[in-house]
Amino acid sequence: MTDSPTRLEIAQPDDWHVHLRDGDMLAGVVDATARQFARAIVMPNLAPPVTTIAAGKAYRDRIMAALSDELDFTPLMTAYLTDGADADEIIGGFDQGVFSACKLYPANATTNSSHGVTDIANISGVLAAMEKAGMPLLVHGEVTDPEIDIFDREAVFIDRVMSGIARDFPGLKVVFEHITTSDAADFVMSAGPNVAATITPHHLAFSRNAIFKGGIRPHYYCLPIAKRETHRLALRKAATSGSPKFFLGTDSAPHDVTRKISECGCAGLYNAPFAIESYAQTFDEENALDKLEGFASLNGPAFYGLPVNTARMVLERRPSDVPQTFAAGPHTLVPFLAGEQTSWTFAGLQPA
Ligand code: DOR
Ligand code: ZN
Repeated sequence: MTDSPTRLEIAQPDDWHVHLRDGDMLAGVVDATARQFARAIVMPNLAPPVTTIAAGKAYRDRIMAALSDELDFTPLMTAYLTDGADADEIIGGFDQGVFSACKLYPANATTNSSHGVTDIANISGVLAAMEKAGMPLLVHGEVTDPEIDIFDREAVFIDRVMSGIARDFPGLKVVFEHITTSDAADFVMSAGPNVAATITPHHLAFSRNAIFKGGIRPHYYCLPIAKRETHRLALRKAATSGSPKFFLGTDSAPHDVTRKISECGCAGLYNAPFAIESYAQTFDEENALDKLEGFASLNGPAFYGLPVNTARMVLERRPSDVPQTFAAGPHTLVPFLAGEQTSWTFAGLQPA
């Protein structure tokens, strides 16, 4: 793009990867996502995790009860895969429209993943049934082997697990979630059209240096951990490439500030309140604002087989101040870009 627009209008986006939590945290964060996004793929890593149709329905009901009345938002629920996952329950949930996808957490890879899968062989029957049903598998792509350097865990996962999934289940729809490396971007690009990836605003915005700038900065710590600058640049290239394989997934993952600033701080960034602004800034910096709508609003629905949203989102090139903190009921959340200004501002929705 050579011109430099001051206003953008795109189909309303969806968030294809978000943590809405539960209880008072859910009540405090759901509107921030629903203000910008028409739909969101809601992660199932609650304690206990969402593994049954009944639990998926009940969680969806709690999300709708927590949502402000004036917001039009559809949560798309996911089932958490365990070693003992039951194919009939999973596919039944998909057929009934309760589950849109399954989430694969390697056991102990991240927050509330202790019930995750210890060996992919344990769920091969479920993956075969999902392939047959057309149900997407959403993958947290990191090995958990403590011998493997934390910065290598995504690349090693491709060799040890992801390439095997793609080989053994060639028709399975797979989303490589929150990719952080050029290895993952390359893997997705060279795989078939049934393999896609989400990319977060924060992995596009900073490299691992930010975690250690002048000291240790817990608000930049998430999993998969940010990698070196060359990987960030590869992610920016993939996101702005126009390829339908890459789409928006914030991985907004709120934790109370006391859980972030701690001797053993939790992984996760809370980026929901200024999510589209931060993506717009990246696309603008890459001179690729004409590719934002595909990434944010078109590629995800195409992959999931859903219609594009009919409402339109307006963005304006003017600064917004990101607060230092947000209150979520009794919780204090420090957002991504706290105290900074975004260069773009979400200026509202135009109904269909
Ligand atoms: O940083 C992260 N936070 N990565 C994840 O995979 C999980 C998430 C969370 O739930 O807090
Ligand atoms: Zn996540």
